[in-house]
Amino acid sequence: MKKVFIFCTTVLSAILLMNCTTAQSNKNTIDLPTALSYVSETKDLLMGTLMKKIKENGTENALEFCNLNAIPLTQTVGEKYHKKIKRVSDKNRNPNNAANAKELAIISQYKAQLFAGKEPQPLVEKNQLYVPIVTNSQCLKCHGTVGSTIENKTAEKIKSLYPKDLAIGYKENELRGLFVVQMK
Ligand code: HEC
Repeated sequence: MKKVFIFCTTVLSAILLMNCTTAQSNKNTIDLPTALSYVSETKDLLMGTLMKKIKENGTENALEFCNLNAIPLTQTVGEKYHKKIKRVSDKNRNPNNAANAKELAIISQYKAQLFAGKEPQPLVEKNQLYVPIVTNSQCLKCHGTVGSTIENKTAEKIKSLYPKDLAIGYKENELRGLFVVQMK
């Protein structure tokens, strides 16, 4: 009986010890709720600043502001938590935000879900967190249709800042892109 007890405690300690080492080697890994909170923080920062700029100086000036600051603002939150955070799209405005093959596959999956009337959900795969970005009416001022939701002078500004822009033609509740967070 005593032997069994000793055997059990040894096994138990070994398991505990193993768990500790795994936990230590993974100390750079973030859990899902924390990673999601980084995305909310980035989203709030981008949208909050954007809406403020539109109110203060109008859509064209807000465009210029996004042109200079959208990527740096996104990176600021990433740097604060030592994680990589980015926004990507299949129809990107900024060439630096083009989705890679893996991201494009996830985008099609999300589009199919929206098409089927389902709300696309965040997804973790191979240490990356993917969070869908869906359009609402506020986005259409700069991502909608020229001559209806996008004013002509806004369209001109978009063309001059982004000659290769792909990010127009959206309606409400369409998949605009993804937030991607590196979990490790
Ligand atoms: C004032 C105009 C404006 C509004 C309104 C706006 N955007 Fe954008 N958006 C831009 C600009 C400019 C860029 C390119 C930023 C850059 O150069 O990094 C951009 C880029 C993006 C990107 C990154 C991928 C890409 O195409 O480069 C996403 C995703 C995005 N916008 C989603 C949205 C969503 C969702 C909304 C509404 C909630 C929205 N935007 C509203 C101007 C706008």
